[in-house]
Order: sequence, then structure tokens, then C-alpha cells
Amino acid sequence: MKQIGVFDSGIGGLSVLAACLPRLPAADFLYLGDNARAPYGSRPREEIEAFTREGLETLQREGAELCVIACNTATAVCAEEMRKRFPFPIVGVEPAVCEAARSCARVLVLATPRTAESGRLRELTERCRGTRFTVAALPRLAVAIEAHFLRGEPVDLAAHLPACDCDGVVLGCTHYALLRREIARRFGVPVFDGTEGTARRVRALFTGEAKWSERGKTNKSSPCSWSGDIKNRIRFLGEMAEENRKVLKQMFETPFFEGFFSPE
Ligand code: DGL
Repeated sequence: MKQIGVFDSGIGGLSVLAACLPRLPAADFLYLGDNARAPYGSRPREEIEAFTREGLETLQREGAELCVIACNTATAVCAEEMRKRFPFPIVGVEPAVCEAARSCARVLVLATPRTAESGRLRELTERCRGTRFTVAALPRLAVAIEAHFLRGEPVDLAAHLPACDCDGVVLGCTHYALLRREIARRFGVPVFDGTEGTARRVRALFTGEAKWSERGKTNKSSPCSWSGDIKNRIRFLGEMAEENRKVLKQMFETPFFEGFFSPE
């Protein structure tokens, strides 16, 4: 049976998984959060690369045949190296700067320190010449979001987010997508993130393969509710598997997240 592996430093990748689930009703997923070693965002590149390799090896051992690096930091640091190392397709997640630039002249990009300084982010922003980008490196916001969802501690966004006059905000870390609404409210402008684009890319690869799409034809179950088939299509791996499962369940069940993740 074909399985899609999703990897992140912690709970952030659940935002990508949640975007993939309704789009891929025929797929089974493995989720691995490296919560015990999160955050990755300020770690040395070699460490991020070693941890990501270990995560993908675990997913490979458990039967993943396509993997998503659901972490902007790990994607910016080592997605290319991982593609050379592993035999399956690897999809990364990137800050949605080009999408934001289509409708915004002044864009604030929020990211971890490693993503903020990455050549990949520079390349993306340089492609959108008419737009002015301000890149803010946030060393502690991902940790605060991880604590908020796992331990119920509040996130004081004012303590983390810079003041900035902008028409759009790019969430360059998958953890931030979990507080998409609060961040949008705080700035009063549209926010953009890479989760939906990543889910579309995963779907294209998934449905591109005949055997996988055949399975899709026989699966007619409701794609959007936790109590429907969703909870049965995911296996959580790693030390904090149960905690990650609870966070995803909460995302699908609470009114706060209603309509947050739509099939298209
Ligand atoms: N969720 C990750 C990202 O998208 C990293 C957060 C962290 O571990 O610092 O960048």
C-alpha cells in the first residue's frame, strides 16, 4: 500500500498534512515530528541536515514512497541533498513569496533565522522585482507555537512579531500557519503560506502514478472530517506521536479551525 511520509521538526508540518488530507482522499500518511529536538530554525546547517536525513530514513523504513519535508527550514537547508540521497520523490515547502507578490507591493516575510538567511529565499524574492520585501528572522516564535499547542501555554504574538507597514505577510515557517488567523488579525492584511501549494504538488505527484490513482477511484469516503476516514489514514511516528495526533484532531474538530482547511 502506498504511503506518503510527512516530516517536520515538530507540529508545524501538521498544517501541511491538514492541507494534503482533503486533497488526497485515496492516500495514507505517515507523520513524523521531531518535537524532542525542535526547534530547528537556529541550529547549524549540518545538524538540520543530519536530523532531516534521520527523519526521512525512519519514514522510508516505515514504507513511505513519497516524502514531504513539511518544514521551510529543512527545505531551504537540505532538500536538494535529500533528493540525491533518497530513491523516492521529495516535496519541500517554501515561503509563498511569489504568490504574495502577485497582489502586494510591500510584503513582510516571517521566517526562522536559517530560512531568513537562506539563498533559496533570496532567489525567490529576487524573482519578484516589483515588490519590496522585508524579511524578519524570528528565533523563538516556532517554540512558542509548539508549547501553545502541546502544553496549552499562551503565545504573546506582540512579543515575537515586528511592527511593519505592509500589504501582505508571508508565513515562512509551517508552525506559523497554525496561527494563520491570529497573525492575519494582528497585521490586518492577507497572509500567504506554502501549505496549499505543497499539497497541490503532492497531489500532482500522487495522481500522476496510475496505481495510486486507481486506488483513488475506489475510495469514496468523506475527505474532511476527523470522525470520517481521516484519522484512519494517518499513522503517527516518533516519541511524541500521540501528542501530534491530538493536535491534528483538535485542528479538525474545533470551531476555531472550521473552514480553515478546504479541499480547493
Ligand atoms: N516548522 C519549521 C519551518 O517551517 C521549523 C520550525 C523550527 O523548528 O524552528 O521552518
